[in-house]
Amino acid sequence: MITLSVIKADIGGYVGHSSMHPDLIARAQEYMEKAKGQGLLVDFHVTRCGDDLQLIMTHEQGEGSERIHKLAWDIFLACTDVAKKLKLHGAGQDMLSDAFSGNIKGMGPGVAEMQFEERGSEPVLVFMADKTSSGAWNMPLYKMFADPFNTIGLVIAENMHSGFSFEVHDVKEHRKVVFNAPEEIYDMLVLIGAPSRYAVKCVRHRPSGEIAAVSSTDKLYKMAGRYVGKDDPVLIVRSQGEFPAVGEVLEPFAMPQMVQGWMRGSHHGPLMPCSISESNPTRFDGPPRVVCAGFQLVGGKLIGPRDMFDDPSFDEAWHQANLAAEYLRRHGPFEPHRLPLEEMEYTTMPQVMKKLEGRFSPL
Ligand code: 13P
Ligand code: 13P
Ligand code: MG
Ligand code: MG
Repeated sequence: MITLSVIKADIGGYVGHSSMHPDLIARAQEYMEKAKGQGLLVDFHVTRCGDDLQLIMTHEQGEGSERIHKLAWDIFLACTDVAKKLKLHGAGQDMLSDAFSGNIKGMGPGVAEMQFEERGSEPVLVFMADKTSSGAWNMPLYKMFADPFNTIGLVIAENMHSGFSFEVHDVKEHRKVVFNAPEEIYDMLVLIGAPSRYAVKCVRHRPSGEIAAVSSTDKLYKMAGRYVGKDDPVLIVRSQGEFPAVGEVLEPFAMPQMVQGWMRGSHHGPLMPCSISESNPTRFDGPPRVVCAGFQLVGGKLIGPRDMFDDPSFDEAWHQANLAAEYLRRHGPFEPHRLPLEEMEYTTMPQVMKKLEGRFSPL
């Protein structure tokens, strides 16, 4: 069994929150090289999406391994040192805890992990987003694994015709529920159509139960009291065979869906698919980005990456995202561009209400 772990954190932006300084990637690579040399990792790839550092690792330690999480934590600490020396913006931003306590979950960084038996051909797609929250995966996951207008394999491939199950997390009440698609899609959509509260954590093949997709929802948990986390989430999807084809997995992103995040984590904006080198959200700190690194696994080795959105067939998604961004920007501080009061990451509401105390009178 091999485990694929993607652990990510924002440990300092360059310039502002727009991108990543190459020294951070270089430092992370040094650490990973060493861990691979010591046999802890089978393989690794270090990359970024916007200002988020992404550690993609294969190993035999299983999910939630203290050694793997500690390695990631130590790398983020080392990179935070580099970021502080360069006075990068928000150095150590996602290092919410002072000390490592066995598992990186709930400490700031985001985690998605899956353990599986490598198939004869094992294409995996690692999606990474910046300036948005984990609910952003709900619509794409629904389209990949439950919508025949997106995934024709659900209709005409025998090994996908029984559908998939979706584990949905209620980030406010801190509980979960599993839905079977296609039978229960109407019930499921009531929940996952509200992505600020309900996030799809994982998807499994039916009836085999084989893991198909896993997302990160960690910061949402951490901040569950406020449920405002714009955690710049990641998503791992296995592809081909009994899972959707690579093109079926990528297809949902041809529509730049509206997501929460963007400037100060307090706006709605279109999710723009782009190549990794173009994931530099600058206009109004956005629009939100999604990138995808594709790999073929061989004995746990990561053959790749291929930069999956580096393809002119996604140009129209860029164009539509820019049109939507332009339209939304004209709303300035008004909803629905600005998020509803209770979902903004930044707010002055308590101070303003305090100032207005005594000035309200009954209607
Ligand atoms: P990040 O979460 O990517 O650091 O973005 C912060 C922000 O609020 C940008 O406006
Ligand atoms: P800071 O300058 O405090 O990061 O806030 C502005 C911003 O970019 C939102 O994160
Ligand atoms: Mg940042
Ligand atoms: Mg970010």
